[in-house]
Amino acid sequence: MRIVLLGAPGSGKGTQAALLIEELGLPHISTGELLRSAVKSGSELGMKAKAVMDRGELVSDDIMLGLLEERLSLADAKTGFILDGYPRNLAQARALDELLARLDQPVDEALQIDIDVDMVVTRIAKRALEEGRSDDTEEVVRNRMKVYFDQTAPVVDFYVQKGVLSRVLGQGTIEEVFQRLKGVLQMRTES
Ligand code: AP5
Ligand code: MG
Repeated sequence: MRIVLLGAPGSGKGTQAALLIEELGLPHISTGELLRSAVKSGSELGMKAKAVMDRGELVSDDIMLGLLEERLSLADAKTGFILDGYPRNLAQARALDELLARLDQPVDEALQIDIDVDMVVTRIAKRALEEGRSDDTEEVVRNRMKVYFDQTAPVVDFYVQKGVLSRVLGQGTIEEVFQRLKGVLQMRTES
């Protein structure tokens, strides 16, 4: 099964992906994590990406598609994946669509986690204390939210038109959100 997780920064994509991979036995592909590994490795790509990420903006579509293609070519992605953080704009949605069409492996389910902006701010402030992600400062989070609403939110319609989008409420405990996501996936596999 090929699943795309959509939602604002702090909506719980990474948290829910970690639970879903246990349930479904699929790899979790987070483009944010791929970038943070590149930053850690000190590679040229990582250095370039860090400056962009620290402003809360989007790394270029070319770089992202290259990273994604490389990751999807690994053996564990052949039976499916949970993609978190990609696509981030309509150009990326189209690029992913073309890439997967070539492989005859289209997206089966796009799951949108809906959440209040206030809640996101509280969650990310907490994570900033726990993890110290350099883009979790108040100013950068505000920009990440803006980028999300300007560029990423339109991607939802892209998947509505493909007939694969489901929305889930991101409020409540981690377990409650997980049960909602599982319910949607169950309905999809039964239909
Ligand atoms: P990325 O890493 O994708 O960050 P993001 O989308 O901003 O999302 P977050 O990771 O902040 O939130 P999340 O939805 O995963 O929530 P989480 O589960 O952690 O991207 C980072 C940067 O990389 C981008 O800004 C961009 O620069 C670049 N980038 C990445 N992909 C790109 C692309 N495709 N193109 C271009 N650039 C790209 O939860 C948040 C917190 O809340 C956690 O502490 C968690 O424990 C807590 N929490 C979660 N659920 C609950 C709950 N139900 N109740 C209470 N707390 C909860
Ligand atoms: Mg994340």
